[in-house]
Amino acid sequence: MSNNYFTTPIYYVNDKPHIGHAYTSIAVDILKRFYDCRGLNSYFLTGTDEHGQKVERAAQEKNIDPQKFTDMVSENFKDLSNLLNLSNDDFIRTTEERHKKSVQNLWRVLLEKDEIYLSKYSGWYSVRDEAFVADNEIVEKNGKKYNSFGSELSWVEEESYFFRLSKWQDKLLNFYKNNPNFIVPKSRSNEVIKFVESGLKDLSVSRTTFKWGIDVPTDEKHIVYVWLDALTNYISALDYPNINSDLYKKYWPGIHVVGKDIIRFHAIFWPAFLMAAELDPPKQIVAHGWWTNEGQKISKSLGNVIDPKELIDEYGLDSVRYFLFREVPFGNDGDFSKVAIKNRINGELANNYGNLIQRILSFICKNLEQNIDLTEDNFNFEILKQINDSEKELFDYMENYKYDEYLKKLFLFMNDLNNYVDKSAPWVLKKTDPEQMKKVLANICLCIIRVSQYLVPFMPSKTSEVFNLFENTNNIKLDIFDNFKEVINLKFLKIRQPEPLFTKIE
Ligand code: MSP
Repeated sequence: MSNNYFTTPIYYVNDKPHIGHAYTSIAVDILKRFYDCRGLNSYFLTGTDEHGQKVERAAQEKNIDPQKFTDMVSENFKDLSNLLNLSNDDFIRTTEERHKKSVQNLWRVLLEKDEIYLSKYSGWYSVRDEAFVADNEIVEKNGKKYNSFGSELSWVEEESYFFRLSKWQDKLLNFYKNNPNFIVPKSRSNEVIKFVESGLKDLSVSRTTFKWGIDVPTDEKHIVYVWLDALTNYISALDYPNINSDLYKKYWPGIHVVGKDIIRFHAIFWPAFLMAAELDPPKQIVAHGWWTNEGQKISKSLGNVIDPKELIDEYGLDSVRYFLFREVPFGNDGDFSKVAIKNRINGELANNYGNLIQRILSFICKNLEQNIDLTEDNFNFEILKQINDSEKELFDYMENYKYDEYLKKLFLFMNDLNNYVDKSAPWVLKKTDPEQMKKVLANICLCIIRVSQYLVPFMPSKTSEVFNLFENTNNIKLDIFDNFKEVINLKFLKIRQPEPLFTKIE
């Protein structure tokens, strides 16, 4: 459980960051923060995939040297990490020396072990996916050839090194059998197993017809095929080839979060490369679905690409983070729509969460001179007990990537709290039973803090604003779940006058 290593795919720099990039990155950020909140150590890597024909072409179109081009575009992805408030520990670029050294070392090992041999490749290739395409996966339309993702194919015929993937078929199937949670969700796992069972062909792992890549260290005519190059980033960042390094020993094997389109590379090629080099295969591949925009596939040609920056400018970062993971069960495809995000923000964030805080804390400031006493039996408050008792269930959700269930559960508590406020009516108690009113308010404050703690991984900034409203908790690190007991030990809570936490969308 401890020392988890979470990665995002490294992003192609041929393009501007879009919602798909943001989605995978936030997914991993939430995991990393969730483990931080539990006081568990983990490591988070993201970065950019800078080689290959697609990137070379993008640089040519702009008439810029590919290195200069990638320097520029990878900055956009670093900016995205800041914009998304990512807590990544490292950012790797495949044009860095540490990575070249790592890839070339892996190449040598595979060659020495006779896992790679020289031959000739002729077949169809998708530049957009940087993937070779088998005959039975080709779709013909208007005399042109496409792969199943609709990317146009071109004929490639060149001398190439091959990795003996076919040899790993049974070992991979065995590995999947012995590690039933290797690929999640299950439906994706079945797809991969079916594909491997249908037979694996050796994989072309070098190219000669363009230049933008890592040189094959043993043959200067060739560069390393971009996926062998790219996948290796996950261990380059842990100091491979030095497998005795602290990072490697502590964090490998890792958990790779990826979109459904790139599962095969991660769940078939990558473990095979690693096993062939006598390294451990990854711990897990977690695949998420794809977003559409108002029901339509997102594509540059349709002009409906969602820019994460525009989204955040319009709705606010934490609201976007909440929406993306509440709206769609992780693993399923999801549709982005303005109506859907508006409903989530207005209904759940502004009305349910924000308004609870606003009305209760304002009431305390107005009626109790900002102080609320805590007594021994606060712990016995029914809703607080329920929240505490549900911790295991909440953790199970997150360990199984059920982000939406986790959030749903927390917001049910928020409903209960709002109902409790309405039912116990502190504004009436003020006149009839001031002692009971204080108790009710103390209970609600504790629950607000508790639920907010569990929301930290999703909304780190908003929850920090909430914690700030409890002035005398400021030296307790509330972003660690366990530190709640320090709040309980306080004699009172000193409240600051709140400002509305979320703005309603008109
Ligand atoms: N460079 C490779 C990954 C190499 S990892 C060793 C690559 N890069 S990418 O930039 O094209 O895609 C990165 C991620 O964005 C993928 O996980 C992909 O699934 C995701 N998405 C792209 N479009 C998406 C949506 N519309 N919705 C959700 N995610 C999508 O592939």
